[in-house]
Amino acid sequence: MEYVIETAPLEILQCDCLIVGVYQDLKLSDTASIANQMTNGLISKFLDRGDITGKIGETVLINAIPDGLIERILVVGLGEDTPLSGKKYRKALLAAISSLKKTTIKSIICSLGECEVIAADQQWKTRQIIEVFNDAVYQFTAYKSNKEIDNKIEKVTITAPKADSIIAQLGLLQGLAIAEGINLTKLLGDLPGNICTPTYLAEQALQLGKQYPSLDISILDEADMEKLGMGALLSVSRGSRQPAKMITLDYQGGDKLSKPIILIGKGLTFDAGGISLKQAPGMDEMKYDMCGGAAVMGTLLAAVQMKLPLNIIGLIPSSENMPDGDANKPGDILTSMSGKTIEVLNTDAEGRLLLCDTLTYAERFNPDVVIDLATLTGACLVALGRVPSGLLGNCDVLCNDLLAASETSSDSLWRLPLWEEYQEQLKSNFADLANIGGKDAGTITAACFLSQFAEKFNWAHLDIAGTAWRTGPTKGATGRPVPLLIQYLINRAHG
Ligand code: BES
Ligand code: MN
Ligand code: ZN
Repeated sequence: MEYVIETAPLEILQCDCLIVGVYQDLKLSDTASIANQMTNGLISKFLDRGDITGKIGETVLINAIPDGLIERILVVGLGEDTPLSGKKYRKALLAAISSLKKTTIKSIICSLGECEVIAADQQWKTRQIIEVFNDAVYQFTAYKSNKEIDNKIEKVTITAPKADSIIAQLGLLQGLAIAEGINLTKLLGDLPGNICTPTYLAEQALQLGKQYPSLDISILDEADMEKLGMGALLSVSRGSRQPAKMITLDYQGGDKLSKPIILIGKGLTFDAGGISLKQAPGMDEMKYDMCGGAAVMGTLLAAVQMKLPLNIIGLIPSSENMPDGDANKPGDILTSMSGKTIEVLNTDAEGRLLLCDTLTYAERFNPDVVIDLATLTGACLVALGRVPSGLLGNCDVLCNDLLAASETSSDSLWRLPLWEEYQEQLKSNFADLANIGGKDAGTITAACFLSQFAEKFNWAHLDIAGTAWRTGPTKGATGRPVPLLIQYLINRAHG
């Protein structure tokens, strides 16, 4: 879909469908009233009949319009006539695109940038329109014989007042960059484990590096990691025929002296559980265990395209976790890169084994902050469901910055405590720490484990086990938490 900003008056614009908003007290938005006049009160007729109520997210398509430049009008309910919350705004946008994407409509004009949204400007609203529309029309057809895509919309025109045209244009550029980042994240997530292996992820990263010279890619293979002493990480890949990779994406967009923001993404291209084998139902979804890594790639892609004035380093430890004669066994003791020894009490708690060595590795970059994202614990689904990602960390400023970014991006986040008392659960009789903390507070004890390797910097951990993909009939990657991370980076760039 192509997106353009338009500041010309509605009267001279042409399209297959115009999207306008109506409030619950039946008050028309500005563009709705213009369209109403242009059609001799057609929208009012619908309101009078009670066919349009203005409830948030309601859509009514008026498709028989007396001849003019506009073929159809989609009326979208905006709820009460007060400034909308960001969440409600996205809900209205999603309703609009959902009702149009399976029609024959090719060109649309979206006037919803004129809605008043709490603490939002034209730039943010333009970005949201693109993000929401892009998200809704994404389809993973790579392995379908019939690749026909439902969406027929080719052109989206976003109207903006003349005075706001520059910031709307900025929002458009950001929106396009973020949309590409999210698409890449979703695509990598949806790819099956037999295609998307650690080697494949590394190749995709190298490909990005070729496309964007400001992005420097380097790949460590198992021999390199052996030299670094990454005993915890390598113990996981030992049980797989696919060699592990450590992918580094280095973007130096800021000044030379400023310390980098490090993003670490768990890149388990398939998690069978290892010797502590998972049960069969739903195991296919463990192809999504690399979604943290994919989100790091997507975030860097967007950041590079937006030319953010920041130094950002992405680190993606990637492996499979399989049962094998050479796999980790319960009771095995590993020596991590930090020197700490780890007793493996459950081989399915493999994410933290990759992440702990990556956290130690991150020290050498002298980071300003380190944020890791990982589909780390099923317990996170029990605690928080599929609504927010879990947030834990050792730095209140960083955690609060992330919470603020999650608010702005509607990519929600909920902080859990990382209190010392929980560390008790990781005690081992035979090593410095165990890799699991028992059945209580699984998300917290996983983060406690990581925290022991993140003592030297400001660190936050996002558990995205419940948010990185949808299960059920709409199974598919979500691209989260790319919107959140990008918002955090945009805020950092301005701050
Ligand atoms: N990748 C899984 C976590 C996961 C499970 C994410 C289900 C999303 C849905 C992780 O490697 C794992 O297996 N964690 C174990 C930890 C346990 C053994 C302490 C889990 O959650 O069961
Ligand atoms: Mn696992
Ligand atoms: Zn896993």
